[in-house]
Amino acid sequence: MAGKLERVLLTEEQIQQRLEELAQQIWRDYEGKDLLLVGILKGAVLVMADLMRHLPGSVKMDWMAISSYGSGTKSSGVVRIIKDLDTDITGKDVLVVEDIIDSGLTLSWIMANLGSRKPASLQICTLLRKPEVAKVKIDVQYVGFDIPNEFVVGYGLDYAEDYRNLRCIGTLSPSVYS
Ligand code: IMP
Ligand code: MG
Repeated sequence: MAGKLERVLLTEEQIQQRLEELAQQIWRDYEGKDLLLVGILKGAVLVMADLMRHLPGSVKMDWMAISSYGSGTKSSGVVRIIKDLDTDITGKDVLVVEDIIDSGLTLSWIMANLGSRKPASLQICTLLRKPEVAKVKIDVQYVGFDIPNEFVVGYGLDYAEDYRNLRCIGTLSPSVYS
């Protein structure tokens, strides 16, 4: 499977080391608070699993699944909730966990939606961020890596639902697309 990659952008070791750093920072910032991590399915499954295991104490976890109407590899920002949170986040300290922010349209919508439920605080942690996001106004508190504007797969990220289980992140060989 890794043979389908054109180039490895981030190795398993780099990803884990960065998640450990982010976890330490998050743990300090949320000291004394009852932190609720909200993962966005399906891409954030691996980030959530590893990030939360790097945290030295207990946190709660919830999930949301959304579908964004987009064609191919571009998102439109038109979003529908497929699976909503199980819990009421009113008055909670919520940290949204994402795999990647590209245009930021999906996450802007999610933040407006969650923000309307009146959490005590609402922040974002994303493993990857692409430069496109500069076009929308969105504050991201925790970023793993800023990456170039290329389509990447692995570590939760898919191409047509494949490659999510790769331990590293990379770009696909052009032959995969043809
Ligand atoms: P946005 O609304 O453009 O920020 O889209 C974000 C979503 O698009 C992510 O949650 C991913 O599901 C998907 N996405 C964006 N870039 C990539 C990529 O390089 N590889 C795989 N999925 C991507
Ligand atoms: Mg996603």
